[in-house]
Amino acid sequence: MREKFIEFRNVSFRYGDEQPWVLKNVSFEIYKDEWVAIIGHNGSGKSTIAKLMNGLLFPQEGEITINGVLVNEETVWDIRKQVGMVFQNPDNQFVGTTVQDDIAFGMENRGVPREVMVERIADVLQAVRMEDYRLTEPHRLSGGQKQRVAIASVLAIHPEVLILDEATAMLDPRGRKEIMKTVSDIQEKNEISLITITHDLQEVVQAERVIVMNNGNVWDEATPREVFAKKDALRQIGLDVPFIAILAEELKNNAVQISNEPLNHEELLEELWTLHSKM
Ligand SMILES: Nc1ncnc2c1ncn2[C@@H]1O[C@H](COP(=O)(O)OP(=O)(O)O)[C@@H](O)[C@H]1O
Ligand SMILES: [Mg+2]
Repeated sequence: MREKFIEFRNVSFRYGDEQPWVLKNVSFEIYKDEWVAIIGHNGSGKSTIAKLMNGLLFPQEGEITINGVLVNEETVWDIRKQVGMVFQNPDNQFVGTTVQDDIAFGMENRGVPREVMVERIADVLQAVRMEDYRLTEPHRLSGGQKQRVAIASVLAIHPEVLILDEATAMLDPRGRKEIMKTVSDIQEKNEISLITITHDLQEVVQAERVIVMNNGNVWDEATPREVFAKKDALRQIGLDVPFIAILAEELKNNAVQISNEPLNHEELLEELWTLHSKM
């Protein structure tokens, strides 16, 4: 059995007594070492979920546990040692005058000894392939490099879960792909949980599981293949479907007997070859 790492139990949240509920009775679990993508239309509550996961916000109703510990004012500092989060805009996340200082800052706050810090800075810069920028001022970096450093800073605290909230949204497709490759390698190697909140369908299909949010509710929770099989329903809640899935659908509508739900070029080609060899 897989070990639970994050649990939301009947969580409801609103930004103020007079405000509408943003999350309504939300329950889900995230396991150790899995990669979960959270998708949903703008305003569906994804970033709110991320902020609840590391105690930037607390729910009015329900409970959130991280590694079995209830998230509240008393536990929040311990929780933040385990939950690393990177947001969309890296410029708001820098505090140091050099890349190295910036990475050190989060560790200092968590009382990591100096010798360990030096070692970890080298490790994480290597992991995100930014070794050559240790002494660079963060504002001199490109958007993609800034996000790499932001991710390195979070990795340096050795989190048990890494949450990327649209962290690759500002990058070009190539930069996005590179970072996601780096991050998923790190996730596998260190056996941590990875939660990606994203509109990038290429990213979503790589996750093990997808949580689909709609109007503050969990609309679906399944594998990417199962989720993207519900094409029309997804479109109705304002979500896109990967191009290959649409192409496969078109082919099926035109009497091409595709039996599985291909999600990438390789899988679609495989389907077409199988058909071809039966002819
Ligand atoms: N600080 C805030 N104060 C009041 N309302 C907010 C605040 N942040 C977000 N909201 C509202 O909460 C809802 C969910 O927002 P959010 O969690 O950011 O959604 P998503 O990340 O899925 O786009 C939206 O209706 C948004 O306008
Ligand atoms: Mg958001």
